[in-house]
Formats: sequence, structure tokens, C-alpha cells
Amino acid sequence: MRLESAQINAQIDQVSSGSMQATASANANIALVKYWGKADESLIIPNASSLSLTVDGLSTTTQVTFHTDTSSRDLKSIHTSEECSDASATSPDTLIIDGERHQGKALHRVSSFLDRIRELSGIHAPASVISHNTVPYAAGLASSASAFAALAAAASRAAGLNLDDRYLSRLARCGSGSASRSIYAGLAVWQAGHDDATSYAEPIASLLESNGESVAAGRSAHDFGMQLAMIVILISDKKKAVSSRVAMRRSVETSPLYGSWIQSCTDDLQQAITAVSRGDVEMLGVVTERNSYGMHATMMTAQPPVLYWQPETVEALHAVEDVRASGLGAWSTMDAGPNVKVLTSAQDAVHVCEALRERMPQRDIHIHMAGEGVRILDQHLDI
Ligand code: DP6
Repeated sequence: MRLESAQINAQIDQVSSGSMQATASANANIALVKYWGKADESLIIPNASSLSLTVDGLSTTTQVTFHTDTSSRDLKSIHTSEECSDASATSPDTLIIDGERHQGKALHRVSSFLDRIRELSGIHAPASVISHNTVPYAAGLASSASAFAALAAAASRAAGLNLDDRYLSRLARCGSGSASRSIYAGLAVWQAGHDDATSYAEPIASLLESNGESVAAGRSAHDFGMQLAMIVILISDKKKAVSSRVAMRRSVETSPLYGSWIQSCTDDLQQAITAVSRGDVEMLGVVTERNSYGMHATMMTAQPPVLYWQPETVEALHAVEDVRASGLGAWSTMDAGPNVKVLTSAQDAVHVCEALRERMPQRDIHIHMAGEGVRILDQHLDI
């Protein structure tokens, strides 16, 4: 159900008195060493550690309001009396994404996430969640990473909690694994860990520091990360037939290549960290491309196979190779879908983008520079 903006604004006004409210914004991230497969499905503990680049221009801004007043109970009864699925009938919460009311599975996932915040804060009130995705071109790339990072930050603040980044990362992870990394700017490593307390992301600069590793003279690991860019070649914005969650589980359970790919992730991450400590974009790019192809090999060999690639995907992958052969630094990576992302340096980004557009004039191709971590935009605690 799509709501008119006047209706949404009326709802925001209605909930902002006698309630606890906060708004946060988070950027998406693109993994260079991928997370693909869970050791614990309910806590979302991954089988291997991963590394990503947070990027600008693909973000989610989310406002969460806990209704601690009586009028909120009226709001709740209005919402639950409307036609809805079983999952939303039992949910006390409401969810609006990009002007559209969501019920069923999406609401259930958000409500379960909010239950963690309610338990942690002792604020047992129904909540309204209003979310906007800022995507500079057709939808389909807004990731659950920016969504759950923004939700974790907004909901915890609205509930009066002031969590540190590590705790926020653990919380975001419970909504969607990749969201654990969107808490941070630039390059972040999600340490797989083995339980809730040990599975969290951190900035690569802190990891290098705590390992006592030195970084190439003249710049920090953070600076190096912020000098990277990701170019997105849009192949399709259609909803994928197989969700990443299902494809991931199927790869773990049925692909004969899964075990060796997971083992290779340990080496890939180590090499990627060394590349960052040396400020070596090429070394990082080579690892990134190899790791992505390995992940897709586990999907293609799953039973039944998952093939996200379109003919245009292959064309784009060849174009990246061609651009690289022409002397520019460009390395491909892909997630659970047909779109191709290209890692490059901020310095080369415009040249790489132009070279790709020349080869694929019919495609939407956009540059995303390294982006900031999650931010709280405002907070009102009117209890
Ligand atoms: C291919 O984080 O969306 O983008 O934890 O089940 O919500 P869930 O999965 P999600 O998976 C992302 C997988 C990936 C690789 C990555 O981001 O590391």
C-alpha cells in the first residue's frame, strides 16, 4: 500500500508527542572479501570473516518512534485492524519503506529485530519505523546492510540506549550480517567470532593497530580506505528470484566447492589486509575479484544451482578486464544479483567510469566514493 506524503507526514506528527524517537542514516557497503554462509542462522554468526568498503550514495535514513503514550495504542489498533497477513496481525509495530506500508515477512523481520532493542532497554512499547532509501537510479541496489545499520542506530537511540560502535555492529548483524560492517566509514572487517559477543565488525585501521602492523608511510589505513571507489554497472533492478539468504544456505548445504572457498577466504582476508597495510590497490583488487568469482562458483555448483548472471553481466565482466588491459586499475566484484561493481582508486574513478561507459553506452554506470559510517540525525525523548 503506497501512502501519500501528506498521510506519512500526518503520521510522523501524530507520533512525535509523548513518545521516544530518533532518526539515523547509514550507507551500504560492498564486500571485497565476501560473507557467504552462516555457522549460526539465528544469531547470524558467519563461517568466515569478511572485509568491505562502505560507499556513499546508496543509503537508508530511518526514523524509529516508540509509542509510550496511550494514543499509540490507538494507532496500533488502527494498523492491526486493517487487512494484513498473519505475521503482521501479531506485530505491534508498523513499517513504511519509501512511502509504502510493509506487512508480512518484512514487518516480521523488523519486529523481531525491535524485540532485541525492547529487551535490552526495557521499553516495551510498539514502534513505528519510517525508512527512505536514497538511490540515485532505479531501485534494486539498496541493500539490507544500510537498512539494518540505520535501524539499529535509530531504534537503540529512540529507546534511550547509547551503544558504542562495537555493540551497534553486533546488533545490526542480528538484522542482516552485512549490516554489521555499515556502522563504519571506509574499510571494515567483520570478525566472524563464535558467538554474539565475539562476532562484530571494526574499522580496518583499528585492526591493523591492534595487530601492531605498520601502514605505508604517509597515510593511515583509514585514509587509504577513503581513497578507494566503487563503480556500479547496473544490469537489472528487478527483484531477484532467489534471495541471498536462501542462496547462501543452499551453497553451504549442497555445493561441493563451499568448503574450499571458505578456506580460501582466510588467505584472501590476510592478503587483503596486507594490501591495505602497503597501500597497494592492485593487490587488493586482485584478491577482491578472485574472492567474488569463488563465491559465485559455490552458488553455481549448489543444488539446484543459483545463477544470478545475465548475458549483460558477462559483457560487463569482460569490459572490466578490457579496461584493466588498457592500463587502468579496475577489478570486478558481484553480490547476490546480476549487477557488477568495480573496485578502483578515487583518483582513477572518473577515467574508469568513462572507459566503461564507452564500452557499454546503453548501461547506467555510477561512481560511489568511500562513504561515512552510521550517523544519528536527531533524537527526541519525550517520555
Ligand atoms: C553477497 O547480509 O544480505 O552481499 O545475513 O542473511 O541478511 P543475511 O545476508 P546479507 O548477505 C550479504 C551477502 C553478500 C556478501 C557480503 O556482503 O559480504
